[in-house]
Amino acid sequence: MQQPVEYDDAIGLAAALATLRRMPPIVTSWETERLKGQLAEASRGERFVLQGGDCNERFVDCESPVIDAKLKILLMMSAVLTYGSGRPVVRIGRIAGQYAKPRSENSETRDGVTLPAYRGDLVNRIEFTPDARRPDPARLVEGYTRAALTLNFIRGLLAGGFGDVHHPEVWDLSWASQSTRAAEYRALLDQMRASVRFLDATVGRPLHELAAVDFFCSHEGLNLDYESAATERPPLRDGWYDLSTHMPWVGERTRQLDGAHVEFFRGIRNPIGVKVGPAMGPEELVALATALDPDREPGRLTLIVRLGAKQVAARLPVLVEALRGAGRPAVWICDPMHGNTFKTADGIKTRHFDDILAEVDQSFAVHAAAGSVLAGVHFELTGRDVTEVLGGSCGLTERDLHRNYESDVDPRLNYAQALEMAFLIAERLGRRG
Ligand code: PEP
Ligand code: CO
Repeated sequence: MQQPVEYDDAIGLAAALATLRRMPPIVTSWETERLKGQLAEASRGERFVLQGGDCNERFVDCESPVIDAKLKILLMMSAVLTYGSGRPVVRIGRIAGQYAKPRSENSETRDGVTLPAYRGDLVNRIEFTPDARRPDPARLVEGYTRAALTLNFIRGLLAGGFGDVHHPEVWDLSWASQSTRAAEYRALLDQMRASVRFLDATVGRPLHELAAVDFFCSHEGLNLDYESAATERPPLRDGWYDLSTHMPWVGERTRQLDGAHVEFFRGIRNPIGVKVGPAMGPEELVALATALDPDREPGRLTLIVRLGAKQVAARLPVLVEALRGAGRPAVWICDPMHGNTFKTADGIKTRHFDDILAEVDQSFAVHAAAGSVLAGVHFELTGRDVTEVLGGSCGLTERDLHRNYESDVDPRLNYAQALEMAFLIAERLGRRG
């Protein structure tokens, strides 16, 4: 297995996996099938996908204010995108189980001491001590439990009308106070408010009473011990489903055609994602799509493309053509985060808002030129006021990065940057009709 986790406690591992296998699923197969249907619609341009959340969700994030803030920003972005595109948005969080991380190095050395790398809370702890860095199988059960608690709270919030577009926060524009375009954002919000009022009046009651807000979760299916233990054959279904999440994805580092991850993902019926980075060639992509989606099932395979703003225009057209030439469907979405990471002179990992937007723009252009559909976007973001990504109308500079950099792994858009991004994409979707 690539990115293997070596547990030295075989008995503890077996016990943890046995416990997991007995626990009820976090999601159900019919929910995953529903998401697959919505993704199929997105691939035809009938919906738009917003996938977003932390790079690395931590166990301490399983608390109400943190979950609340993440859900809020995703719902607000989706309200703006729905309005801009005139299409329903498929909302997918990187949440309720995004606890395992691939790392470029298996170990980390500080002051002559070498310990295993931090691999996400599902595996070990971030403190630099031998005890914290030892992979601990008990964390598999704790992660599963926290994921279930997180999704349970999200389900409760949504059932209680949390997705209601009448909430005052939806109409709050204080985040844009420094933007030269605040007046345009205000005008768009005013139009949205008028439309909501009109529809409320037309149907005779608040809109949210009519439709439940769908929300799906996803995570990188990295730890195959964990994913396998959550995989079952639900009654009345033919196949196997990984019911730890709706949509697991295979990361850029583990998508080898003959690797363990592709073998596992081939065997489950969920909608699945695959990260597509600059190393992916057209033949490899076709082979991967053939292996993972032999039946060309609509909505089954989402390609989460993360080529970087500098490479997307040159590389994406070839990939789109190759798949089309092979008669293979896919849901193409753009992850404009992971190909645009760099380190500042002080060694801080960051990304620039302009590069992120540039990659989204170029992806739209490539798909439009190819007669194909950019079905959605994938962001690392948080509902909090962090300082991890440069730029945006809040004008974050390298000096600001020291102020409130909370991420342990990759830099995320903050609240203002995420909402601004949603407005900018809504505007582009609106233009495309
Ligand atoms: C991620 O999405 O956090 C990640 C590790 O991405 P990738 O596999 O594309 O590098
Ligand atoms: Co990341």
